[in-house]
Amino acid sequence: MNGPRDRTAIVTGGAGGIGFGVARRLAADGFAVALLDLDEGAGKRAAAEIEQSGGRAVAVGIDVTDEQAVQTAVELVAEQLGAPAVLVNNAGVTRDNLLFKMSLDDWDTVMDVHLRGSFLMSRACQRYMTAAGWGRIVNISSTAALGNRGQVNYSAAKAGLQGFTKTLAIELGKFGVTANAIAPGFIVTEMTRRTAERMGIPFEDFVKGAAEHTPVARVGQPADIAHLVSFLVSDGAGFVSGQVIYAAGGPVC
Ligand SMILES: NC(=O)c1ccc[n+]([C@@H]2O[C@H](COP(=O)([O-])OP(=O)(O)OC[C@H]3O[C@@H](n4cnc5c(N)ncnc54)[C@H](O)[C@@H]3O)[C@@H](O)[C@H]2O)c1
Repeated sequence: MNGPRDRTAIVTGGAGGIGFGVARRLAADGFAVALLDLDEGAGKRAAAEIEQSGGRAVAVGIDVTDEQAVQTAVELVAEQLGAPAVLVNNAGVTRDNLLFKMSLDDWDTVMDVHLRGSFLMSRACQRYMTAAGWGRIVNISSTAALGNRGQVNYSAAKAGLQGFTKTLAIELGKFGVTANAIAPGFIVTEMTRRTAERMGIPFEDFVKGAAEHTPVARVGQPADIAHLVSFLVSDGAGFVSGQVIYAAGGPVC
């Protein structure tokens, strides 16, 4: 039976934050990992760090909204590391504003990276997974899917990803491919740092405030999400599909 050691995982937005945490964990689990990120330099540094720790990793500079680039990158990964068996759609951006001030460009950018990007990546990878009769897709949603002031674009995209996940699960299940979504709460990354900066709040105060509203009395780290991804892409998780798992240090509603 194949195990992680014979398998390739693609992580979009793998150059930093949650994506890098996930890539590092999957490499430690034994997967060969491909880091697909807009920031090619950061991706290469991240891949080198994984290799220095004994993992196998490549970085590909790519915009996940570019159809042709996605196709080419996935084929390149298949050639260099082997057919992708795991896909983590993690690349993401925010363009926050209240509805009445939000530009169409900010709406489109957020929709494109999260939804168009996840669609293109999943479509390009599924043919390898269905041919192998085994695959795992994990989409990174957010607690913002339940609604968040100033994020009408982001919350719509993250809720959209949940419907996308359930339909992937329905269509691909008979081919041995599962699809699940993780909806993180507050995770310490550049994304949350930038949000604090934009709001004019020192990051430490921002983190402290978020922790005070979290039942486990702390904020999350990329490793918290990586641990859940590691479970969802394991062989043993084959009966878990079409689920949205909130990883937010407590219940969310
Ligand atoms: N940090 C949080 O609190 C939090 C909470 C819930 C969900 N999320 C989601 O988790 C995912 C990762 O977020 P993060 O906090 O690590 O953010 P981050 O900004 O630290 O990292 C995002 C990565 O995605 C890459 N990226 C952006 N646009 C891209 C594109 N078009 N093509 C390829 N790569 C692209 C960036 O270069 C970056 O490396 C995102 O989908 C985000 O929405 C984050």
